[in-house]
Amino acid sequence: MRVLILGDLVGRTGRTAVIEALPDLRARYGAHFVVVNGENAAGGFGITEDILTELIDAGADVVTSGNHVWDQREALVFIERQERLLRPINYPKGTPGRGAGLFKAANGADVLVVNAQGRVFMPDLDDPFRAVEREVEACKLKQGADAVFIDFHAEATSEKQAMGHFADGRATCVFGTHTHVPTADEQILSGGTAYISDVGMCGDYDSVLGMEKDEPLSRFLTKIPTGRFQPALGEATICGVGVEIDDATGLAKAIAPIRIGGRLSRIEPQFWLTQP
Ligand SMILES: [Fe+2]
Ligand SMILES: [Fe+2]
Repeated sequence: MRVLILGDLVGRTGRTAVIEALPDLRARYGAHFVVVNGENAAGGFGITEDILTELIDAGADVVTSGNHVWDQREALVFIERQERLLRPINYPKGTPGRGAGLFKAANGADVLVVNAQGRVFMPDLDDPFRAVEREVEACKLKQGADAVFIDFHAEATSEKQAMGHFADGRATCVFGTHTHVPTADEQILSGGTAYISDVGMCGDYDSVLGMEKDEPLSRFLTKIPTGRFQPALGEATICGVGVEIDDATGLAKAIAPIRIGGRLSRIEPQFWLTQP
């Protein structure tokens, strides 16, 4: 089984690139299931119901999020009727929406997706480790789910690596989001879980984290805000990973980065492109 994961879509350029490319990418890779992080899809801040619907229509099975999930206030309402949108599971009890769900892949497999948020250099939510543990224990690999994917939306690479090892052998893949910069540490951990600290953003890399450069640069230089952060509008790089799953165990056989378009060098999972 093949799963395609794409990182934080930033603004119109990132969103449009993914919506236009996703049908082709699904076919090119033979992907059975697609997860995208949509927390910055609406002008860099949050997600609207219209954008969520466009992403799902384009081929996203699940849209995960993070600390920006409520930037568009309408998300507090529509998340209750949109089961394919996840918010971090470790938000306080009573928060609208859900942080995990079991979804059907194109090949009929049941895929558990969990979205959790880190606490290092981030708001102090509930313990993400215990929250993830509850989900993976309640819906075990090859018992409750054929594959388990964890989007760990966090700032610190240490916390992300710890989550990878915590879930190793119990999840198909733990992938990081939030930093908007892809890391080069994709690997299969000793227990069989695919891991990457951050899949990177889908957005314009001629920017500061997807935002037009002038305002962030000026804030670093003067500490005085002079305007709003605006998404950079140059050509986006679509950034993510491909994960090949061992159907017998639900663990990962391979993980490889994907970078297409824009300023980053093109990379694709070779194990999905070689002819049988
Ligand atoms: Fe983000
Ligand atoms: Fe974030």
